[in-house]
Amino acid sequence: MIKYEDLDPEAPIGVFDSGVGGLTVVREIIRQIPNESLLYFGDTARVPYGTKSKDTVLRYTRQIVRFLESQKVKAIVVACNTVSAVALDEIEKEVNVPIIGVVKPGVKAASQATRNGKIGVIATKATIESNIYATYLKKIDPNAEVLGKACPLFVPLVENGLLEDPVTDEIAARYLSELMDRGIDTLVLGCTHYPLIRSTIARTVGEGVTLVNPAYETALELKALLSQYGIESKERPRLGSNKHRFYVSDDAQGFEVFANSVLKYGILSAQVINIENY
Ligand code: DGL
Repeated sequence: MIKYEDLDPEAPIGVFDSGVGGLTVVREIIRQIPNESLLYFGDTARVPYGTKSKDTVLRYTRQIVRFLESQKVKAIVVACNTVSAVALDEIEKEVNVPIIGVVKPGVKAASQATRNGKIGVIATKATIESNIYATYLKKIDPNAEVLGKACPLFVPLVENGLLEDPVTDEIAARYLSELMDRGIDTLVLGCTHYPLIRSTIARTVGEGVTLVNPAYETALELKALLSQYGIESKERPRLGSNKHRFYVSDDAQGFEVFANSVLKYGILSAQVINIENY
Protein backbone atom coordinates (compact mmCIF):
# COMPACT_ATOMS: atom_id res chain seq x y z
CA MET A 1 0.00 0.00 0.00
CA ILE A 2 1.26 3.46 -0.85
CA LYS A 3 1.37 5.78 2.16
CA TYR A 4 0.64 9.19 0.62
CA GLU A 5 2.10 11.11 3.58
CA ASP A 6 5.53 9.48 3.07
CA LEU A 7 5.95 10.86 -0.45
CA ASP A 8 8.11 13.99 -0.58
CA PRO A 9 6.97 16.43 -3.33
CA GLU A 10 10.55 17.66 -3.77
CA ALA A 11 11.98 14.16 -4.27
CA PRO A 12 12.96 13.16 -7.82
CA ILE A 13 10.90 10.97 -10.13
CA GLY A 14 12.64 7.71 -11.04
CA VAL A 15 12.65 6.89 -14.76
CA PHE A 16 14.27 3.79 -16.24
CA ASP A 17 14.88 1.81 -19.39
CA SER A 18 17.22 -0.89 -20.65
CA GLY A 19 19.45 1.80 -22.18
CA VAL A 20 19.12 5.15 -23.90
CA GLY A 21 15.55 4.67 -25.19
CA GLY A 22 13.92 6.02 -22.04
CA LEU A 23 15.56 9.37 -22.76
CA THR A 24 12.77 9.96 -25.28
CA VAL A 25 10.37 9.83 -22.32
CA VAL A 26 12.67 12.02 -20.19
CA ARG A 27 12.69 14.59 -23.00
CA GLU A 28 8.89 14.72 -23.00
CA ILE A 29 8.60 14.91 -19.19
CA ILE A 30 11.07 17.82 -19.10
CA ARG A 31 9.03 19.56 -21.82
CA GLN A 32 5.68 19.11 -20.09
CA ILE A 33 6.60 19.34 -16.38
CA PRO A 34 9.87 21.27 -16.24
CA ASN A 35 9.82 21.89 -12.50
CA GLU A 36 10.21 18.19 -11.65
CA SER A 37 13.64 16.68 -11.17
CA LEU A 38 14.37 13.24 -12.56
CA LEU A 39 16.62 10.36 -11.60
CA TYR A 40 17.27 8.19 -14.65
CA PHE A 41 18.67 4.68 -14.77
CA GLY A 42 19.73 3.06 -18.07
CA ASP A 43 20.69 -0.60 -17.85
CA THR A 44 23.44 -0.22 -20.48
CA ALA A 45 25.27 -3.36 -19.31
CA ARG A 46 22.27 -5.62 -19.95
CA VAL A 47 20.52 -4.01 -22.95
CA PRO A 48 18.57 -5.32 -24.89
CA TYR A 49 15.66 -6.51 -22.77
CA GLY A 50 13.34 -7.23 -25.71
CA THR A 51 14.95 -10.56 -26.59
CA LYS A 52 15.05 -11.85 -22.99
CA SER A 53 12.60 -14.02 -21.06
CA LYS A 54 9.92 -12.65 -18.78
CA ASP A 55 11.73 -14.05 -15.71
CA THR A 56 14.95 -12.27 -16.61
CA VAL A 57 13.21 -8.95 -17.31
CA LEU A 58 11.31 -9.28 -14.03
CA ARG A 59 14.54 -9.90 -12.10
CA TYR A 60 16.24 -6.90 -13.71
CA THR A 61 13.21 -4.73 -13.04
CA ARG A 62 13.07 -5.70 -9.35
CA GLN A 63 16.73 -4.69 -8.95
CA ILE A 64 16.16 -1.35 -10.66
CA VAL A 65 13.07 -0.58 -8.62
CA ARG A 66 14.98 -1.41 -5.42
CA PHE A 67 17.76 0.97 -6.52
CA LEU A 68 15.24 3.74 -7.29
CA GLU A 69 13.48 3.24 -3.96
CA SER A 70 16.85 3.43 -2.18
CA GLN A 71 17.22 6.87 -3.79
CA LYS A 72 13.86 7.88 -2.27
CA VAL A 73 12.08 8.68 -5.53
CA LYS A 74 8.47 9.84 -5.14
CA ALA A 75 7.15 8.05 -8.25
CA ILE A 76 8.46 5.74 -10.98
CA VAL A 77 8.02 5.90 -14.74
CA VAL A 78 8.79 2.66 -16.57
CA ALA A 79 10.16 4.24 -19.75
CA CYS A 80 10.37 0.86 -21.45
CA ASN A 81 7.60 -0.93 -23.32
CA THR A 82 9.13 -4.35 -22.74
CA VAL A 83 9.09 -3.94 -18.96
CA SER A 84 5.63 -2.31 -19.11
CA ALA A 85 4.38 -5.29 -21.14
CA VAL A 86 5.86 -8.23 -19.25
CA ALA A 87 6.66 -7.07 -15.69
CA LEU A 88 4.59 -4.05 -14.68
CA ASP A 89 1.52 -5.98 -13.46
CA GLU A 90 3.65 -7.80 -10.87
CA ILE A 91 5.96 -4.93 -9.97
CA GLU A 92 2.97 -2.64 -9.33
CA LYS A 93 1.96 -4.82 -6.37
CA GLU A 94 5.45 -4.66 -4.86
CA VAL A 95 6.44 -0.97 -4.98
CA ASN A 96 5.70 1.64 -2.36
CA VAL A 97 5.43 4.63 -4.70
CA PRO A 98 3.05 5.36 -7.58
CA ILE A 99 4.27 3.75 -10.81
CA ILE A 100 3.23 4.08 -14.47
CA GLY A 101 4.35 2.47 -17.71
CA VAL A 102 4.22 3.55 -21.34
CA VAL A 103 1.88 0.98 -22.88
CA LYS A 104 -1.49 2.22 -21.59
CA PRO A 105 -0.74 5.84 -22.58
CA GLY A 106 0.35 4.55 -26.03
CA VAL A 107 -2.88 2.63 -26.42
CA LYS A 108 -4.91 5.71 -25.57
CA ALA A 109 -3.05 7.88 -28.09
CA ALA A 110 -3.33 5.25 -30.85
CA SER A 111 -7.05 4.74 -30.38
CA GLN A 112 -7.54 8.50 -30.70
CA ALA A 113 -5.34 8.77 -33.79
CA THR A 114 -6.75 6.02 -36.01
CA ARG A 115 -9.49 6.70 -38.53
CA ASN A 116 -9.77 3.32 -40.29
CA GLY A 117 -9.20 1.16 -37.17
CA LYS A 118 -6.09 -0.49 -38.65
CA ILE A 119 -3.26 0.08 -36.22
CA GLY A 120 0.30 -1.14 -36.64
CA VAL A 121 2.47 -1.69 -33.58
CA ILE A 122 6.23 -2.01 -33.86
CA ALA A 123 8.07 -3.13 -30.74
CA THR A 124 10.53 -5.62 -29.33
CA LYS A 125 9.93 -9.36 -29.64
CA ALA A 126 8.87 -9.58 -25.97
CA THR A 127 6.33 -6.75 -26.29
CA ILE A 128 4.83 -8.15 -29.51
CA GLU A 129 4.63 -11.69 -28.08
CA SER A 130 2.86 -10.36 -24.95
CA ASN A 131 0.11 -9.11 -27.29
CA ILE A 132 -0.51 -6.30 -24.82
CA TYR A 133 -1.22 -3.52 -27.35
CA ALA A 134 -3.80 -5.62 -29.21
CA THR A 135 -5.45 -6.68 -25.95
CA TYR A 136 -5.89 -3.11 -24.68
CA LEU A 137 -6.76 -1.62 -28.08
CA LYS A 138 -9.49 -4.19 -28.58
CA LYS A 139 -10.95 -3.33 -25.18
CA ILE A 140 -11.49 0.20 -26.50
CA ASP A 141 -12.66 -0.89 -29.97
CA PRO A 142 -13.41 -4.61 -30.45
CA ASN A 143 -13.39 -4.06 -34.23
CA ALA A 144 -9.89 -2.60 -34.27
CA GLU A 145 -7.39 -4.51 -36.38
CA VAL A 146 -4.02 -4.53 -34.64
CA LEU A 147 -0.99 -5.66 -36.60
CA GLY A 148 2.14 -6.23 -34.57
CA LYS A 149 5.67 -6.48 -35.91
CA ALA A 150 8.77 -7.23 -33.86
CA CYS A 151 11.75 -5.14 -34.99
CA PRO A 152 14.68 -6.66 -33.05
CA LEU A 153 17.42 -4.89 -35.02
CA PHE A 154 16.16 -1.37 -34.28
CA VAL A 155 17.44 -1.30 -30.67
CA PRO A 156 21.07 -2.23 -31.51
CA LEU A 157 21.00 0.23 -34.44
CA VAL A 158 19.90 3.02 -32.08
CA GLU A 159 22.30 2.01 -29.28
CA ASN A 160 25.10 2.17 -31.86
CA GLY A 161 24.08 5.64 -32.97
CA LEU A 162 23.01 4.69 -36.52
CA LEU A 163 20.05 7.08 -36.39
CA GLU A 164 20.43 8.39 -39.93
CA ASP A 165 22.08 5.66 -41.95
CA PRO A 166 21.37 3.67 -45.13
CA VAL A 167 21.52 0.46 -43.08
CA THR A 168 18.69 1.70 -40.85
CA ASP A 169 16.67 2.72 -43.96
CA GLU A 170 17.11 -0.75 -45.43
CA ILE A 171 16.05 -2.55 -42.23
CA ALA A 172 13.07 -0.22 -41.76
CA ALA A 173 11.87 -0.92 -45.31
CA ARG A 174 11.98 -4.68 -44.65
CA TYR A 175 10.21 -4.48 -41.30
CA LEU A 176 7.50 -2.04 -42.35
CA SER A 177 6.49 -3.18 -45.85
CA GLU A 178 4.06 -5.83 -44.58
CA LEU A 179 2.26 -3.35 -42.31
CA MET A 180 2.00 -0.88 -45.19
CA ASP A 181 0.53 -3.52 -47.47
CA ARG A 182 -2.16 -4.22 -44.88
CA GLY A 183 -3.37 -0.59 -45.02
CA ILE A 184 -2.59 0.71 -41.51
CA ASP A 185 -3.25 4.41 -40.97
CA THR A 186 -1.58 4.59 -37.53
CA LEU A 187 1.71 3.18 -36.31
CA VAL A 188 2.63 2.96 -32.63
CA LEU A 189 6.31 3.36 -31.86
CA GLY A 190 5.99 0.66 -29.20
CA CYS A 191 9.59 0.78 -27.99
CA THR A 192 11.08 3.88 -26.41
CA HIS A 193 14.17 3.58 -28.60
CA TYR A 194 12.17 4.03 -31.81
CA PRO A 195 11.35 7.77 -31.58
CA LEU A 196 15.11 8.26 -32.05
CA ILE A 197 14.74 6.90 -35.61
CA ARG A 198 11.39 8.58 -36.12
CA SER A 199 12.42 10.36 -39.31
CA THR A 200 13.58 7.11 -40.92
CA ILE A 201 10.31 5.42 -39.97
CA ALA A 202 8.25 8.41 -41.16
CA ARG A 203 10.07 8.45 -44.50
CA THR A 204 9.45 4.73 -44.92
CA VAL A 205 5.71 4.71 -44.15
CA GLY A 206 4.90 8.04 -45.81
CA GLU A 207 2.56 10.85 -44.83
CA GLY A 208 -0.62 8.77 -44.83
CA VAL A 209 0.38 7.00 -41.61
CA THR A 210 0.21 8.79 -38.26
CA LEU A 211 3.10 7.90 -35.96
CA VAL A 212 2.23 7.58 -32.27
CA ASN A 213 4.96 8.16 -29.70
CA PRO A 214 3.56 7.06 -26.30
CA ALA A 215 5.99 9.41 -24.50
CA TYR A 216 3.74 12.45 -24.96
CA GLU A 217 0.70 10.76 -23.39
CA THR A 218 2.91 9.21 -20.66
CA ALA A 219 4.12 12.64 -19.53
CA LEU A 220 0.51 13.85 -19.42
CA GLU A 221 -0.46 10.83 -17.34
CA LEU A 222 2.48 11.40 -15.00
CA LYS A 223 1.37 14.98 -14.47
CA ALA A 224 -2.14 13.77 -13.55
CA LEU A 225 -0.70 11.12 -11.22
CA LEU A 226 1.43 13.66 -9.31
CA SER A 227 -1.59 15.86 -8.88
CA GLN A 228 -3.74 12.91 -7.73
CA TYR A 229 -1.23 12.20 -4.94
CA GLY A 230 -0.64 15.91 -4.24
CA ILE A 231 3.11 15.51 -4.81
CA GLU A 232 3.84 18.04 -7.58
CA SER A 233 7.14 19.85 -7.02
CA LYS A 234 6.71 23.48 -6.04
CA GLU A 235 10.18 24.38 -7.33
CA ARG A 236 10.48 26.85 -10.16
CA PRO A 237 11.59 25.37 -13.50
CA ARG A 238 15.34 25.64 -13.93
CA LEU A 239 17.61 24.37 -16.60
CA GLY A 240 21.00 22.91 -15.94
CA SER A 241 22.99 19.80 -15.58
CA ASN A 242 22.63 19.29 -11.83
CA LYS A 243 18.84 19.24 -11.70
CA HIS A 244 18.54 15.68 -13.04
CA ARG A 245 20.71 12.70 -12.13
CA PHE A 246 21.72 9.91 -14.52
CA TYR A 247 22.91 6.42 -13.61
CA VAL A 248 23.91 3.52 -15.85
CA SER A 249 25.19 -0.01 -15.33
CA ASP A 250 28.08 0.43 -17.84
CA ASP A 251 29.81 2.87 -20.21
CA ALA A 252 28.93 6.21 -18.61
CA GLN A 253 30.87 8.11 -21.24
CA GLY A 254 29.02 6.59 -24.20
CA PHE A 255 25.74 7.29 -22.44
CA GLU A 256 26.70 10.92 -21.75
CA VAL A 257 27.48 11.62 -25.41
CA PHE A 258 24.19 10.10 -26.48
CA ALA A 259 22.11 11.74 -23.76
CA ASN A 260 23.56 15.16 -24.48
CA SER A 261 22.58 14.84 -28.13
CA VAL A 262 19.02 13.74 -27.26
CA LEU A 263 18.25 16.14 -24.42
CA LYS A 264 20.19 19.25 -25.46
CA TYR A 265 19.67 21.01 -22.15
CA GLY A 266 23.24 21.35 -20.98
CA ILE A 267 26.17 19.14 -20.20
CA LEU A 268 25.10 16.11 -18.25
CA SER A 269 27.15 13.47 -16.54
CA ALA A 270 26.29 9.89 -15.71
CA GLN A 271 27.50 7.64 -12.94
CA VAL A 272 28.01 3.88 -13.10
CA ILE A 273 26.42 1.77 -10.37
CA ASN A 274 26.52 -1.97 -9.80
CA ILE A 275 22.85 -2.85 -10.26
CA GLU A 276 23.50 -6.47 -9.24
CA ASN A 277 23.96 -5.15 -5.68
CA TYR A 278 20.25 -4.27 -5.43
N1 DGL B 1 13.39 0.61 -24.94
C1 DGL B 1 12.81 -0.60 -24.54
C2 DGL B 1 11.38 -0.75 -24.91
O1 DGL B 1 10.69 0.24 -24.93
C3 DGL B 1 13.63 -1.85 -24.53
C4 DGL B 1 14.38 -2.18 -25.74
C5 DGL B 1 15.27 -3.37 -25.47
O2 DGL B 1 16.06 -3.28 -24.54
O3 DGL B 1 15.12 -4.39 -26.16
O4 DGL B 1 10.90 -1.83 -25.18
